[in-house]
Amino acid sequence: MGKKLIACGLAAALLGTTALPAMAAGAHDATLKFDAENFEVITVNLDGQPVNVRKYTTVYVGKPIEMAAVQPPRGVGPSGAPPSTEGTPLADPFAYQTMNIYVPETAAEDGKTAILLQVRNSGWYAAGPAEVVEAGKDYVSTSDTDATGAALKAGYIIVNAGSRSRGAEAADSTLVGKAPAAVVDAKAAVRYLRLNDATMPGSAERIIITGTSGGGALSVAVAASGNSAEYYPYLAEIGAAGMSKAGESFLNDDVFATLAYCPITDLGNADTAYEWQYGFLRSADNVVGGTLTDAHKAGSAKLAAAYDSYISSLGYKLEDGSPLTAETMKKAIVSHLTREVEEAIAEGATIPAIGEDFGVEGRDGSRSFANDWLTVEAEKVTDLNYENYLKFVSSVSALKIVPAFDATANTGNEYLRGENSLFGSSTDTYANFTEYGWNNNEVAGDGSGPDDTGKNWADYITGDGADLANQLKLINPHAFFNTEADTALYWYIRHGTLDRDTAFAVELALYYGVLSDESVQDVNFELAWMKPHAGNYDVQEAFAWLAETLAAAGEP
Ligand code: DHB
Repeated sequence: MGKKLIACGLAAALLGTTALPAMAAGAHDATLKFDAENFEVITVNLDGQPVNVRKYTTVYVGKPIEMAAVQPPRGVGPSGAPPSTEGTPLADPFAYQTMNIYVPETAAEDGKTAILLQVRNSGWYAAGPAEVVEAGKDYVSTSDTDATGAALKAGYIIVNAGSRSRGAEAADSTLVGKAPAAVVDAKAAVRYLRLNDATMPGSAERIIITGTSGGGALSVAVAASGNSAEYYPYLAEIGAAGMSKAGESFLNDDVFATLAYCPITDLGNADTAYEWQYGFLRSADNVVGGTLTDAHKAGSAKLAAAYDSYISSLGYKLEDGSPLTAETMKKAIVSHLTREVEEAIAEGATIPAIGEDFGVEGRDGSRSFANDWLTVEAEKVTDLNYENYLKFVSSVSALKIVPAFDATANTGNEYLRGENSLFGSSTDTYANFTEYGWNNNEVAGDGSGPDDTGKNWADYITGDGADLANQLKLINPHAFFNTEADTALYWYIRHGTLDRDTAFAVELALYYGVLSDESVQDVNFELAWMKPHAGNYDVQEAFAWLAETLAAAGEP
């Protein structure tokens, strides 16, 4: 039960039964009741034994938006492949605001167990809920890649929630997945779980939101911004649990913890971080698509130069209390990487000698990557060449183009690409969302840039662009650290040492942001040794951390 509902119940008890005030409730709460009897039983093999799991499927908002039967084609993805021209059929028009709830039968009467809230948002695109527990399938609780097996074994409730995000086209043809829709929907899912806490297995005070990449970004945005009133108008619009029509809230939407993998977060600043980190080594050989024009090179330099003032403006501190700047960020990356190398060695990894092959597989299937950056003696790192490490990463997976995220309609780039379709109004295909992308917009009539608005970025974003500013803010965890928002107390963040989908600097900034938030109890952050852009590769470590964290927090 949410804190505010408890307070309401207490007030009613204090006033006595004769003077019971009407319990404040959301406009749609009566239709959002969990039906405990409405489930199917799925039998799976968990560690070779049959285990029954109850599966519930429900729409989690009072005013779900009906989607078009065919969802629009997407732009160029991170691999650089040309965009599809075909749409994708969507069988259930309400899938994006639907969730699957899986209850191991052993936990059916357990009101205190944790709820693992898995979110989608891959590529920052809309998605329905995933079918993560399948009849007859084998699950293994001791595997490092089977989060479902580990969760079932631990007796946690698994919730897998769809959400709107970019690419969501409503039946009336409007684009209803623009930022911050994914965050709003995930919060609505949390609210559904709180509204029904008394009748559902699991505790809504022990929700762990988890996802990978776009889903990691969604997880950290929700985890940072608990109970923030800035989302209330959006939550009221979709009839989220505990929202009045007028936008008052009677329920909380904070979460207990997050397990976030390679979050593609802080989109408004991810381009400058990317060029600050990789710009010096950009060449046609290591960029997707294989072309790097003079405009790309000039853009890269401009973006890189803007990073220091941004990162310094956050006001974060390193572990030793010194300020986080571009210079100390570089040292912090080396230091986290060094720690990870030594941990990997302690766990049995072998580091090839200089000139020997790392034996990792490139994204294009190539396998030979010689070590020219890491020297280890007696299980300790004695030399780590930062520049050569970044070259190694970019040879395993080619870099994104310039800019990496606000990539559409500028710098000569073709097609809809980057993250642009996440921004703009519900009738805009895309919008530029950074100073560089906006000021360099090349397409007349698209609604972005000085050519269409008469405003450069600085003037636009502080004036007519208030909606865009709000879109950027409400998907950005940095906007909520050390504010009145109820930030999750426990954070587990991983990003692979081979992952080039966003800069390491973005993930370290997130870590230092969480570390700076005085309410946070624990942040467990690692660059995961030799992991690519992926998640759930360390399930034993993550679930051990979670079990310890839950035990330390005590009963909900
Ligand atoms: C994802 C990957 C990206 O490179 C990106 O920019 C956004 C999302 C993803 O895998 O979800």
